[in-house]
Amino acid sequence: MDTLRVALIGFMGCGKSTVGPVLARRLGYAFVDLDSDIQTVSGRTIQEIFKEDGESAFRALESERLSQYACASDIVVAPGGGVVIAEANRSILRRQFHVVYLRTKASTLADRLRSEAEHRPLLAGYPLEERIARLMSERSALYDEVASQIVDFDGKSPHSIAVEIAGGLEPA
Ligand code: S3P
Repeated sequence: MDTLRVALIGFMGCGKSTVGPVLARRLGYAFVDLDSDIQTVSGRTIQEIFKEDGESAFRALESERLSQYACASDIVVAPGGGVVIAEANRSILRRQFHVVYLRTKASTLADRLRSEAEHRPLLAGYPLEERIARLMSERSALYDEVASQIVDFDGKSPHSIAVEIAGGLEPA
């Protein structure tokens, strides 16, 4: 196994934080949830960063933390769903990671996000289905663009997804 770095990407609620630790354990890698990492480093919640400093400040922190892991070994990183917006991040992902896009239907995402939408800065206050459709239309081509592997998550368990991803790993 030569792949040293795996990035799990996909929309909010796609299952990155569920599959990530299972995959990392299977590979014997460490798992990093990039949002948790940002919260630890900044001493604030994601909501607080958005509220106090705005989305662009959050995106700057996100880019900075992603680049911190670009040369790490034996690691599975799960960045937030918006990581693909910045070309610099897409470039890091393409060059430095085996990128797995966890593709999930919009209806599944809406079901998973409904109870927590009010706590998510990019969803709060919007009609949920329309907002997901809008953000997906802006992002799905970007997820496709950086993906080394695309895995459809609907109806599968985190364990079977981890097995599928591990089976598709190639040297990064
Ligand atoms: C975001 C997704 C969130 C978090 C932030 C912005 C996005 O992470 O980074 O609220 O732009 O899609 P998850 O995808 O882990 O929920």
